[in-house]
Amino acid sequence: MSKPSWFTCCALTSIAILWLTGCEMPWNDVTSPAPTDSTVDGYFEAFAASSLGEPFARLAPDELARFDAGADEFAEVDTIAEGLGPVFNEASCGTCHTGPVGGTNNRLETRFGRIVAGAFDPMVTAGGSLIQDHAIGKVGDPPTYEFVAEAVPGDATIRASRITTPLFGLGLVDAVPDEELLRLANLQATRTPATAGSPSLVLEISSGHMRVGRFGWKAQVPTLHQFSGDAYLNEMGITNPEFPDENCPQGDCAALAHNPVPGLNNDGAAVAAFTDFMTLLAPPARSRTSSLVVEGSGMFVRVGCADCHTPVLVTGPSPVDALSHRVFRPFSDFLLHDMGSLGDSIVQGSATGSQMRTAPLWGVRTRTALLHDGRAATIDAAIRAHDGQGRLARDLFLGLGSRARVALLAFVNSL
Ligand code: HEC
Ligand code: HEC
Repeated sequence: MSKPSWFTCCALTSIAILWLTGCEMPWNDVTSPAPTDSTVDGYFEAFAASSLGEPFARLAPDELARFDAGADEFAEVDTIAEGLGPVFNEASCGTCHTGPVGGTNNRLETRFGRIVAGAFDPMVTAGGSLIQDHAIGKVGDPPTYEFVAEAVPGDATIRASRITTPLFGLGLVDAVPDEELLRLANLQATRTPATAGSPSLVLEISSGHMRVGRFGWKAQVPTLHQFSGDAYLNEMGITNPEFPDENCPQGDCAALAHNPVPGLNNDGAAVAAFTDFMTLLAPPARSRTSSLVVEGSGMFVRVGCADCHTPVLVTGPSPVDALSHRVFRPFSDFLLHDMGSLGDSIVQGSATGSQMRTAPLWGVRTRTALLHDGRAATIDAAIRAHDGQGRLARDLFLGLGSRARVALLAFVNSL
């Protein structure tokens, strides 16, 4: 053992507690290289937005213009003439990601599938795994065909709900280099093997390379740009350069002969605009701290929450100053963990049915429905549902004295 034991057991504790008191951080131990041009407190003073839904403070004028144009596009309601459908979930990104813009209205979506010969079958030929629960209806004048909303087929044995996630601060997550997440996974495998996460390895369509996925409940998408194109097709039915093929309604590709707007619906300009909006959308600010919150931060580390809900990450270089080499606090490692019965049974990207991405806890105090299917109304209920690799932390939480438990919850409520 060459390293002092302080480094192996207490680095995260120190980070969780020290940033609250504004002390120097032992950066190199958690994520390296060390950031050179920002400190935690300096960063948030300089760039924090005053309320949710706003861009980073102090953006350059051209960045602010891109944010505003992106926000308009994000809120725009698309029409059938523009390519909406034939099947879709809503006509605008902002319909689900709202309250305020970029947030969540707790809209649920449905996925389904079944097990065939021991393996997950996403039932693509029946329209799986994602349901589009709206359709454009009758087409032709006079009507010659009617598109109808998809439904879960009778032979599906797996049905799962996924709640809309808020998008605040995701530009920072996008700017974390793959190596950073791979390093974090290695660190966990050595230091906390029982709860260690796996990086989600998925295809980045634009480069043709495998990247570390980090967006979505299964970390199934590697970049905000790719998620934008994916959502434009799968939520709204708008085809675009990286997602050129229309969804076959309930798996029936012959029905697309009646598609009123075949061909590429969008040239990618809107996808770029959604990406700009999300890239420049500021993260949630912390609430005021208190001695109870400081006490709770120690409990959060002691029972093992911080082993997955990583307090700090560091971005790599970015053309946007607010995102370049910044330390930020998402309270997630963006890795996949086997959550046992809390898994949603859907195999997606590189995630198994029981693996889920650690949900970031920044801004969790503003939310009213937690976990991937929104089943938990409180932080306490969300913790109680942790299973699999999260079970020990849950049990340790339940075994705390009541004051320590209240302190831990106060801490999570301050994020
Ligand atoms: C019908 C509601 C709905 C619409 C419309 C919608 N989303 Fe989402 N969004 C969701 C849900 C649900 C998830 C979680 C999906 C999952 O992981 O399976 C999500 C996740 C995301 C994420 C990943 C966030 C994270 O935490 O990793 C991004 C980025 C995103 N949406 C962007 C968009 C954009 C851009 C649009 C418009 C093109 C859009 N969404 C339209 C419901 C919606
Ligand atoms: C083994 C890794 C792991 C550990 C340890 C862990 N979590 Fe989680 N946590 C997750 C994952 C994965 C999710 C997403 C679960 C899902 O898909 O529903 C999650 C979700 C949550 C959520 C819901 C967030 C949301 O946006 O819906 C809260 C709150 C939470 N965890 C708090 C805690 C607390 C507090 C502790 C310590 C008592 C803890 N977690 C320990 C992995 C972990």
